[in-house]
Amino acid sequence: MEAFAEIAPQPRVYIETYGCQMNVADSQTVRAVMRQAGFRSTEQAEDADVILLNTCAIREHAEERVLKRLSELAGLKRRRPEVRLGLLGCMAQHNRASIVEKAPWLDLVAGPDSYRRLPELIGRAGFDSAVDVALDRAETYADIAPEHQEGVRAYVTAMRGCDKFCAFCVVPYVRGRERSVPADAVIREVTALAARGVKEVVLLGQTVNAYRFGEIDFGGLIRMVAAVGGIERIRFTSPHPGDMSESVIEAMATEPKVQPYLHLPVQSGSNRILAAMDRGYTVEHYLDLVSRLRKTIPGLALSTDIIVGFHGEEESDFDSTLALMKAVRYDSAFSFKYSLRAHTRAFKLGDTVNEVEKGRRIAEVIALQEQISAERNRALVGAKFEVLVEGPARRGNGMLSGKTPQFKTAIFPVRPEIAAGDTIAVRVESATGHSLTCSLPL
Ligand code: 5AD
Ligand code: SF4
Repeated sequence: MEAFAEIAPQPRVYIETYGCQMNVADSQTVRAVMRQAGFRSTEQAEDADVILLNTCAIREHAEERVLKRLSELAGLKRRRPEVRLGLLGCMAQHNRASIVEKAPWLDLVAGPDSYRRLPELIGRAGFDSAVDVALDRAETYADIAPEHQEGVRAYVTAMRGCDKFCAFCVVPYVRGRERSVPADAVIREVTALAARGVKEVVLLGQTVNAYRFGEIDFGGLIRMVAAVGGIERIRFTSPHPGDMSESVIEAMATEPKVQPYLHLPVQSGSNRILAAMDRGYTVEHYLDLVSRLRKTIPGLALSTDIIVGFHGEEESDFDSTLALMKAVRYDSAFSFKYSLRAHTRAFKLGDTVNEVEKGRRIAEVIALQEQISAERNRALVGAKFEVLVEGPARRGNGMLSGKTPQFKTAIFPVRPEIAAGDTIAVRVESATGHSLTCSLPL
């Protein structure tokens, strides 16, 4: 605490999070580290003594957003030079020293394996920009209890890093080697969450189903989590198709707490492009996996990630992606224009699809998926689902919202006897591609 006495008697930290759920979970770990060092959290950057941006490097657009935010914060730094400004996460790791050149008003830069040392870095930051981007093959933060936000659902890190090295992806370089959180630490965290009233846990990892701790594989971990009393629903994200082992499929099929929804990134529907991406599967493997999953897990909903315009993607490759989407008929899909990333293997190959063409392709993917999502959801009109109630619907007007087992958003009327955390039966009355409007059958 002495190190910060010069900052303020009760210093306050403000954290802004960009990117994926892993970053959301990491920010909770950072909050815990900072609290242990004597910092209180604030929701206002203006009130803070320390401002931390936990950043994403997956696409150029993500980095541009952060650079814009950093230049805004330069203004705040001019008004209050005593504020310490830090860049955390994947972009910190990706850009290392160059980021301090671009934003010299940054006080510290810390990669995803350096959060334990943050208080020390902040202490040093008054003198010079402190940079700590050492990746650590062993760091899992297993002994640090993250500060979870209130809510019926909580995200629990099971795995960090990635060893897949897909040709387009920066994650293995910025998050380092794959490592699993010890199973007892995962269970300790899930048990603490259950005691606080959390009903649903989402196990997280860049390739979460590659989990292995000693003899315990991901199927084993799922069963251990399922044994925790009070936890009613289990989900996980994101699995890699290549690690979708029999053990995981069986745990999903036989453990009633595991919800019938899977985000299974495919990236492309062309074997040529999948090989160039080094994804480790063919379209045929992937479709076979989908049909095994659907056969084994009744009512399974599927979503995916698709990249358009990867190096060498011809019109015929793109048509194969549309064909795969039509064959699988995903419940939803996230699509991205290929973004060249430094350090990756595909970087030196360059871009072969121009921005306009990428724009046309992504628009086609989005339009096709919207049509499929709407058709799939409309087919549910009249069906009943068990919904875990989360709270008021985003658009308000006297409605509540929650998720079906398939992770679809259900909207239904407020009732005095219904509270967040309850599981209730609803009947679908109408649907769009994005949500189900439901009634409450008596
Ligand atoms: N360009 C575009 N999309 C990417 N993704 C990962 N790297 C890139 C990139 N360089 C997408 C993939 C991944 C998701 C999280 O982000 O679809 O599954
Ligand atoms: Fe990136 Fe591939 Fe690892 Fe996913 S599996 S994080 S796309 S390298």
